[in-house]
Amino acid sequence: MRITSATGASLRGLNVVVTGGAGFIGNEVCRQLVSAGANVTAIDNLVNGKMDNLADLRGSAFSFHQADIRDVDRMSELLRSRDLVLHLACLGVRHSIHAPIENHDVNATATLRLLELARGNEVGRFVYVSSSEVYGTAQTAPMSEQHPLWPMTVYGAAKLAGERYTDAYWRTYRYPTTVVRPFNAFGPRSHHECDSGEVIPKFLLRALCGSPLLVHGDGRQTRDFTFVADTAAGIIACATSPHTLGETINLGSGREISINDLANAVAAVVGSGDLSIEHGPDRPGDVRRLLADVSKARTLVGFQAQVGIEEGMRRLLNWYRSLDVPLTTLLAQERPVNWVGSR
Ligand SMILES: NC(=O)c1ccc[n+]([C@@H]2O[C@H](COP(=O)([O-])OP(=O)(O)OC[C@H]3O[C@@H](n4cnc5c(N)ncnc54)[C@H](O)[C@@H]3O)[C@@H](O)[C@H]2O)c1
Repeated sequence: MRITSATGASLRGLNVVVTGGAGFIGNEVCRQLVSAGANVTAIDNLVNGKMDNLADLRGSAFSFHQADIRDVDRMSELLRSRDLVLHLACLGVRHSIHAPIENHDVNATATLRLLELARGNEVGRFVYVSSSEVYGTAQTAPMSEQHPLWPMTVYGAAKLAGERYTDAYWRTYRYPTTVVRPFNAFGPRSHHECDSGEVIPKFLLRALCGSPLLVHGDGRQTRDFTFVADTAAGIIACATSPHTLGETINLGSGREISINDLANAVAAVVGSGDLSIEHGPDRPGDVRRLLADVSKARTLVGFQAQVGIEEGMRRLLNWYRSLDVPLTTLLAQERPVNWVGSR
């Protein structure tokens, strides 16, 4: 049961498990896999994922299982006879600031257990979705996969442990694995709420509701934002290519933007010239600069992000407007806190 090609045709009938399938990136991965003809089993304990994210995914090629990836018996059963595991389930960076032990338990320890279950159940391949947070702040830019690994947070450190376990299974056992390192993703179904909230949905909702945008620190920190459909397509391409076995691969847009410039771009997309911006203190563990070198992904699987930041934000804006929920209700779920010891 080896995956041998990155072409769409090779996905037809492939039995794929997606952990974290009800999450922001996971649901898009499931949707693209189902469209390409794969049989998809999504697993999520719904601690941050939402069933609404999967509402349009119906039919015999898709199933959802509410389960915790730390439940070994359940996972063993769900991994049996699969061709591919895409492991996206995780607890996020802000969670790691107030709950470092649990964060490590899910992001690192459970990954090691899943690897062992996948190998034991002869799953054809295991793909770990890591994060650019494993790098810490850029010492040189753009950041290739060779950039030093110096995570700032327990989240980044736990993701690094998870990816190194994944790589060790390839090196020690020749068990087929791949690690992908997405940079910040954004788009429809992104998190605006509580400690999962990300800057683009938070800014857009505030702008749409006429509230000031809240910038942590001086706003000169930069990020490489990738539209979620591009991130998901990159994950699938890396997961199904014969050229990526044992490899670790960045997925980003290759463009950086400061948070201050992002605030101005949000104002332009929303059409609001008089947005006010408030600056608060720095966030703990906030990375100063991230910019992906995506030449490896381009060379190995032909990856190139298709949707730019303004177009991606317009799509997110249209998605918000299509929802049956007042934007003020969504904004009320957003929390303007700086995460120190917060929950
Ligand atoms: N969103 C980004 O910008 C970004 C950037 C880089 C890397 N990543 C990585 O991509 C992956 C997906 O991120 P996302 O943004 O979709 O996050 P997300 O929080 O939306 O998705 C993660 C999912 O995992 C589920 N989960 C958490 N603990 C679980 C457990 N114990 N058992 C089962 N399910 C559990 C959550 O309910 C959630 O649905 C993660 O591995 C993350 O590290 C994300």
